Amino acid sequence: MAIVSSGSAGVAPEPHQRLVDPAPVPEEAAAEAPILREDSLRPRRLADYIGQSELKQVLGIAVEATQAREEALDHVLLYGPPGLGKTTMALVLAEELGVRCRITSAPALERPRDIVGLLVNLQPRELLFIDEIHRLNRVAEEILYPAMEDFRLDLTVGKGTTARTRSLPLAPFTLVGATTRAGSLSSPLRDRFGLIQRLEFYGLEDLQAIVQRAAGLLQLELDSAAALEVARRCRGTPRIANRLLRRVRDVAAVGGHGRVTAVLVHEALSLHRVDGRGLDASDRRLLQLLQDGYGGGPVGLDTLAAGLGEDPATLEAVVEPFLLQQGLLQRTPRGRVITEAGRAHLDAAA
Ligand code: ADE
Repeated sequence: MAIVSSGSAGVAPEPHQRLVDPAPVPEEAAAEAPILREDSLRPRRLADYIGQSELKQVLGIAVEATQAREEALDHVLLYGPPGLGKTTMALVLAEELGVRCRITSAPALERPRDIVGLLVNLQPRELLFIDEIHRLNRVAEEILYPAMEDFRLDLTVGKGTTARTRSLPLAPFTLVGATTRAGSLSSPLRDRFGLIQRLEFYGLEDLQAIVQRAAGLLQLELDSAAALEVARRCRGTPRIANRLLRRVRDVAAVGGHGRVTAVLVHEALSLHRVDGRGLDASDRRLLQLLQDGYGGGPVGLDTLAAGLGEDPATLEAVVEPFLLQQGLLQRTPRGRVITEAGRAHLDAAA
């Protein structure tokens, strides 16, 4: 199916150098551009999509029922951490439904005419994917309400006392919204989604299968222990797994290695300072400073950030979440504290 992209969808919000950042880097965003590149690692069909079994089951049933009724699929809200496959799932749904998917993101819908332009051009049953939907402005949101509910566009014509509202019919369509912050969505918007689904971090077995599938597509020979080594380091996130795999491929190619083994993965990713659990140098520096500089804590975020020469907001939004999720770090009312597991990890890495 043709995929039409509008605005800044999929473009990394800001530059970064971390190999383990779940946000897409520009090279990966290019893979999300108008027409899928032939070498894209994305699964195209539901049957090829690994993991997220509950999500697949719910959406699979909805697609089948919708097809039978010859209707547009209910609006879908996908939420969860970055890099888990929200955009991919929207594209898969379009493929399953045999329709086009138009891709955009909320920051690209600044003016009312941006969203109006997209809506009026939708054909029956097409998908409109809006990434970062929690960032929609108020005007765009209010245009969406009648569009989602009644497939109707309410336009205000004229100004002041002569202003009138005109309604235009729209083709029945499906809005697929994606967000990392479901809590930031206004309730009127959230209530208009018939299907609300959370994407979960992937387990090791699923990640191993994703890595193996991607290796096949990249024509890289990789044994199952090697796939598991990549899976262990990717923070539960397929986008990171695929990025790590490309770096492993580089090392394998330069070293003239044939089949990629677990030892080679270890070597390749050590070069990028990604350890056996997926922590990178920034993560370890934080834990080390907390342990050596502050006796394990508690210490305030600002003090920690100053010690690391980082911006506190970046530290909180980018470095800390994975450490917290892994139970290596704790947030207490008196500040950050390293956990026993955090100390053990540093000892093992030393
Ligand atoms: N590549 C990235 N995510 C994937 C998934 N969930 N299934 C298969 N391949 C993937």
